[in-house]
Amino acid sequence: MLDAETGTDAWLRYSALSQPASKSYESLPGKIVPLNDRLVTKTAQTELMAGISKMLGKTLREGGASPLEGSIVLATLADLHALAPGLHPPEQLRADGYWLKSAKIRESECLIIAAPSDRGILYGAFALLSKIARGENLIALDEMQQPYAAIRWVNQWDNLDGRIERGYGGPSIFFADGKVRSDLTRAGQYARLLASIGINGCTINNVNAAPAVLEDSFIAEVSRIADVFRPWGVQLSMSIDLSTPKIVGGLETFDPLDLRVGEWWRKKVDEIYRRIPDFGGFVVKADSEGRLGPSRYGRTPADAANVIARALKAHGGVVFYRAFVYNHHLDWRNLKNDRAKAAYEIFHPLDGAFDDNVIIQIKNGPIDFQVREPVSPLFAGLHRTNEAIELQITQEYTGQQRHLCFLIPMWKAVLDFDMRVDGNAWAVKDLVAGRVFHRPTGGFVGVANVGMNANWLGSPLAMANLYGFGRLAWDPNPGAEKIIDEWTRLTFGSAPLVIKTIAAMQLSSWHVYESYTGPLGAGTLTNILGNHYDPGPESSEENGWGQWHRADHQGIGMDRTLATGTGFTGQYPPEVQTFYETLSRCPDNLLLFFHHVAYTYVLHSGKTVIQHIYDSHYDGADRARDFILQWKLLEGQIDEERYRDILARLEYQAAEAVVWRDSISSWIYRLSGIADHQQRVPANRSD
Ligand code: GCU
Repeated sequence: MLDAETGTDAWLRYSALSQPASKSYESLPGKIVPLNDRLVTKTAQTELMAGISKMLGKTLREGGASPLEGSIVLATLADLHALAPGLHPPEQLRADGYWLKSAKIRESECLIIAAPSDRGILYGAFALLSKIARGENLIALDEMQQPYAAIRWVNQWDNLDGRIERGYGGPSIFFADGKVRSDLTRAGQYARLLASIGINGCTINNVNAAPAVLEDSFIAEVSRIADVFRPWGVQLSMSIDLSTPKIVGGLETFDPLDLRVGEWWRKKVDEIYRRIPDFGGFVVKADSEGRLGPSRYGRTPADAANVIARALKAHGGVVFYRAFVYNHHLDWRNLKNDRAKAAYEIFHPLDGAFDDNVIIQIKNGPIDFQVREPVSPLFAGLHRTNEAIELQITQEYTGQQRHLCFLIPMWKAVLDFDMRVDGNAWAVKDLVAGRVFHRPTGGFVGVANVGMNANWLGSPLAMANLYGFGRLAWDPNPGAEKIIDEWTRLTFGSAPLVIKTIAAMQLSSWHVYESYTGPLGAGTLTNILGNHYDPGPESSEENGWGQWHRADHQGIGMDRTLATGTGFTGQYPPEVQTFYETLSRCPDNLLLFFHHVAYTYVLHSGKTVIQHIYDSHYDGADRARDFILQWKLLEGQIDEERYRDILARLEYQAAEAVVWRDSISSWIYRLSGIADHQQRVPANRSD
């Protein structure tokens, strides 16, 4: 395990700058002037003082506005106006945004961090520190930044006993033995990390929620977590179980349309806000994977979401109702059945039925965080309903932090995907941000699942996914290259070989992982009934979970076309539908998601499907081995501790990639009976 210095601070290490690098910051003001003394602005001040001292060895003096001297000024827009009426912040500046500006105020050269809110000031402070850490020029600074969407949240799937569902970074930072931890230091440090990348909300418990979280005594405990989040502007929220009015409240029903149930939610929510005035709201998983839900009473997700939303409305809270609702007892023998269709079939007819403070939280793909999926058609299917995209930072199906898999390129592909809504170019990022249909709210949710490990996710390189999620939630437009460059500089310093090597490895890693696990859109091909980690393609078939790839002796893939298959393609807007429906147009990397083809089918690349599967697995395993060689270039370029830790991980991954390669190649050879042209597959080797 990495020590606190190399792990806990993640991208907020604030390493001392070299002499020449720090020289360019000599003109940085020597005094810091916050124009208010509220909690979050105070945090911004403390963070700036600590960061500047660590990076530049300079101690900022605290002081008031007169005399102003040369100062870093922290101000809300109203306070800035009172101090310097001649300065005009950009008019478009909205909540959580900030303005960094070098300007003369009363003859003094100042550096101003101004924002509509204290939280914006804090984000501006982090941005300034990031610039210094990366050696950016601050001369004539004039930069406005504002988030793409209001919702930038992480979900933690923490259980009250301290275990984390699909968490690979150690036990919960919030809970142990059924209680909130007495020492919440890590929770506070986590809030700092989140704030540094603009995340403004955190749901602290598993979506498979224990009703006990809403017991009054537990809410009192949870309020201690909110207390350590608050200085960082992170709102706390909770996942809830819909049957809580019955289980905890003692009512005989949890029917959302029963007036007693509505009243119960109202009182419960009032109680929460009494203890946690800045509470964010609830996340709901219902009628999914065994969770109880409104279907028990013949009610809809809208009925269930609205009754809770109404209780939260007066306090400004929101309900995230997850679209991950499906029947996991589907009959696999019926070729028309398709789990991918569930979310759209359930939620599209309810468009417009949800209250304004309900947000439908939609996983990026229609199945479940596989290594590659098309985007969920539901993003284009809600015009009068708020939505948020759910991305998975914790690498459940993508190597569980034991394999390098930088997910930003995958998320970029999803967010930039043009849905052709009403024949226009509208990307998923615009739909979820509520920009297309002018929704009051919407945005981005990441399932993070950090734990007590010093470096949070249990792997230093995996932290780029948490950082990248925050950056994309703030602004989904920059490319993965920019994000990895920033992260690497902040985490490992700016030596050119370090930047180049880590960027190259990270940027190729998703594709490498996909190559030796499940190429061509077949899904991850992992053991879906067990750990979601080892190879196990057979586990997907002949059960009700619906993660079928339908491999048989002739061919492989799910026919999801309108013409001959499940009809899933029909859920997309027409242009996207034709694109996927038409075999000759469907991209190779999603072919088996949409079509069932013979193993001898020839791809756009000119290879047959079967040969592609062999080649991809061998190539992927070779490239995983190459990561070791790439990494070895960095010996002596970064600290020994992280160098060794990551080297060991890459060696492990290379060995695991061989296991995957051999397992999937042998399986597909046994099924198809078609030999690898290069005779590499153990079962068909002549040696
Ligand atoms: C996946 C995951 C579960 C999780 C579920 C969800 O199926 O394996 O652990 O509860 O997603 O997102 O609700």
